[in-house]
Amino acid sequence: MTFPADDAPARPADAGRADASERKGGWLLETRGITKRFGAVEALSSVDLHVAPGRVTALLGDNGAGKSTLIKTIAGIWEPDLGHIYWDGHPVRVRGPKVASALGIATMYQDLALCDNLDIVQNMFLGREKTSYRVLDEATMEKQARDTLGDLSVTTVRSIRQQVGSLSGGQRQAVAVARAVMQNARLVIMDEPTAALGVAQTAMVLDLIKTLRSRGIGVLVISHNLVDVFEVADQIAILYLGRLAVEAPASEFDQQSAVYSITTGKFDGSSVGKSETA
Ligand SMILES: Nc1ncnc2c1ncn2[C@@H]1O[C@H](COP(=O)(O)OP(=O)(O)OP(=O)(O)O)[C@@H](O)[C@H]1O
Ligand SMILES: [Mg+2]
Repeated sequence: MTFPADDAPARPADAGRADASERKGGWLLETRGITKRFGAVEALSSVDLHVAPGRVTALLGDNGAGKSTLIKTIAGIWEPDLGHIYWDGHPVRVRGPKVASALGIATMYQDLALCDNLDIVQNMFLGREKTSYRVLDEATMEKQARDTLGDLSVTTVRSIRQQVGSLSGGQRQAVAVARAVMQNARLVIMDEPTAALGVAQTAMVLDLIKTLRSRGIGVLVISHNLVDVFEVADQIAILYLGRLAVEAPASEFDQQSAVYSITTGKFDGSSVGKSETA
């Protein structure tokens, strides 16, 4: 297998190259030169990321590569020190989670932000409760919650009045996805959605991701599980020590070349399909 020399450029020129021809309609989300420092640590160094609507973009990288920091910057948790975020081709300042949410960005963090002591309906409408004559309109909320879950083919939840704390990990993901759909999210960001899940629940979450994509929603998913990644990803972006090492269609990778890029920050698309001894 041949790889670029050590001093080969890390392909910043390739960023966004992938399927650029298909992107006449523009990117849903683009970051340009995003840099984020925590004291002496530069967690993100001039990151240019491109996310298309109706496509699944997998964000990969080793522990500490900057994946969570990047999505937190997109979601308005952190303000970048340098760089800009473009939404629908327009520069935006995502000054907080509320701004992100108003734009149509729904983020599910590693430790899912659901309230365990509330039931499914309450979680799905948290902060956006429906009222009728100043009284909570439980019937409408229940119907919408049930319809949305049904629409997403989530059938394993016994009662939508069940407390979220009693749900399985996969069901919790489903509730979070349903909440995003109900809030008309256009970009759903998921940080390790299948990390703690068994086989069947992982399959359910991957199906949900495919459903989101089929509705034209952009999905940005962080995962360390390459089997999951290759099942759903259209596009792969790899962070290496805070820098975007490569961004290319998933078809240009196999597991071996993805691991190579994750661990070295380099990319060799020509290795796809060739064995180590070739
Ligand atoms: N709030 C913070 N304060 C200080 N340093 C931070 C903070 N958050 C992240 N970092 C640092 O920024 C770098 C990137 O961290 P980040 O959490 O984004 O990595 P990651 O790619 O999500 O890793 P993992 O795969 O382990 O979740 C790390 O060096 C981390 O220590
Ligand atoms: Mg992380």
